[in-house]
Amino acid sequence: MIPDSFKQDLLNRVDIVDLVERHVRLKKAGANFVACCPFHNEKSPSFTVSPSKQFYHCFGCGAHGNAISFVMEYQGLGYVEAVKELADSAGMKLPEFERWGGASKAESEGTDLYAVMKQAEQYYREQLKNAPAAIAYLKGRGLTGTVAARFAIGYAPDGWQNLQAVFPDYAARALKDCGLVIDGEGGRRYDRFRDRIMFPILNQRGSVIGFGGRVLGEGEPKYLNSPETPLFEKGRELYGLSQARTAVREAGRVVVVEGYMDVVALAQHGIEYAVATLGTATSPTHVQKLFRQTDEIVFCFDGDAAGRRAAWHALEVSLPVLADQKAVKFLFLPAEDDPDSYVRAHGRQAFERLLAEARPLSEFFLAELRSRVDMATLEGCSRLIHEAKPLLKRIAAPALQLQLLKQVAQASGVTQEEAGRLTEIRGAAPGRPVRPAPPKGPDRAMLNRKLDRELLACLLAHPPLVREVPAEVVDVSHAEGRALEALIALDGIEALTHAVILELLRESEHASLLNRIRSEFLHKDMDTEVARAEFDAVIEAIRRRNPNPRIKELGEKAAREGLTGQERDEFGRLIAEDAALKQRRMPPSTVL
Ligand code: GTP
Ligand code: MN
Repeated sequence: MIPDSFKQDLLNRVDIVDLVERHVRLKKAGANFVACCPFHNEKSPSFTVSPSKQFYHCFGCGAHGNAISFVMEYQGLGYVEAVKELADSAGMKLPEFERWGGASKAESEGTDLYAVMKQAEQYYREQLKNAPAAIAYLKGRGLTGTVAARFAIGYAPDGWQNLQAVFPDYAARALKDCGLVIDGEGGRRYDRFRDRIMFPILNQRGSVIGFGGRVLGEGEPKYLNSPETPLFEKGRELYGLSQARTAVREAGRVVVVEGYMDVVALAQHGIEYAVATLGTATSPTHVQKLFRQTDEIVFCFDGDAAGRRAAWHALEVSLPVLADQKAVKFLFLPAEDDPDSYVRAHGRQAFERLLAEARPLSEFFLAELRSRVDMATLEGCSRLIHEAKPLLKRIAAPALQLQLLKQVAQASGVTQEEAGRLTEIRGAAPGRPVRPAPPKGPDRAMLNRKLDRELLACLLAHPPLVREVPAEVVDVSHAEGRALEALIALDGIEALTHAVILELLRESEHASLLNRIRSEFLHKDMDTEVARAEFDAVIEAIRRRNPNPRIKELGEKAAREGLTGQERDEFGRLIAEDAALKQRRMPPSTVL
């Protein structure tokens, strides 16, 4: 995997104080720096960063580690992603390593781990039927059987090796790889989940990839989650997303809450478009995933200090992902409530009223920044601009960026131009275009090739998409386009996987290009869903950039000799499509 020498090099180049300071406000305390811990709720700072040891430690919750672990924890990333992120920020290039070539990551000695998880889920569901105490607990929390079934809620009975009844080969490696069992000292193996209500966690395809297990009533830990496994990476997944899909589409929004029980209780009261992070902070992956489903995200957090911190973090990670037609909002509940208790006490309508009044990101942004400085003083005002600068610069959506810049300027009593200069945001001066003019000539060709490479990556990730590449987007004037053409020609081969593609084209002129693309996109780990969404986005981007040549052709024919009825229909349709396409805004980067 990643060579140790690279990791060492990376840790030598990154300064942990710098890194942490990007997200948490640090105060000097002797040789170290301190802050309120970003990983748990506290009022006095026990989170310490040591520049000499390049290490952080929280005396409150015990969180500790180096720069890599900080990025993993704080951004909810997996190990490789975190290394990649850090390397990027330090200007280092991650060495290539082989993964696609190896066994499928869902396999463990040939066992399908998804099937194992499914079997476990069924077992836990079955056990719930015979567990009066667990049923009483769920009923006591206001849940009906219908909602329990919607979330496939189950029960892991008390006892150390109950899963042996389901998996006769209890020693199988797959059980460990799934995180269902723990190998104790002395080699004794036992069930991870015992006497807990089981919440299966599904991926977007609806396969079980993990579990959250809650104690009945009081006990520690309240929730036990599956460990990270080949199937399950906490920082990427959202509880309830698979079930919420349809409702999200219908409602035109998704609500992000903190707890399993919040999702379930909201669904119980008819609000089926809620999802929860899995005890981790909101990550950019979360936001990206959700924006693929809908244009509006409402983050719903507790009204206390921890909730506000979580919300601010969600705001920070949303900034680079936001596009102008997308909206992020924040809903703060009264301090004593969480969504579960609120909806139970006040009902669906009351909750939906709160949603309708959720604060737009711009409002929360400014209010929060203002609260950090003393606006009555001149220093405070310039501090406001200073604090806003790094955040504004991360915004990819030009209209939103400008809007926030205006607000910041207004609040701190300077002109917009002045604020633009101070924050070094281009296009802030009136009269100058916010976005550079569309590229022409060589730039344009380069962009087309880049889009083609992105398209190829989608096809490698999910080869059945070759069937859906529209003929007019193929441009064989460059190598990427020719590779695309070659891939499309493979349509019809049964069970076309990316390995088969690379094998079939191994000897061709496209081989090295495809291999390069494969490693370029390795870290993205696109699943089918993502590949499809990106595919659609790239096709749209190509079309927008290169108007359909057929329109030109038909237009010329119309002028020359007139069109047949059928051609006239086609012409009309193409023009309407083209206009619709141009109306829509270009997302900042469709492929991330
Ligand atoms: P209840 O209403 O008390 O059942 O829980 P909740 O779903 O409202 O969860 P809560 O708001 O207390 O916590 C939010 C989320 O943080 C939970 O859904 C879990 O994902 C996670 N979490 C809470 N407590 C623990 C814990 O003890 N261990 C772990 N690993 N995660 C936890
Ligand atoms: Mn709760």
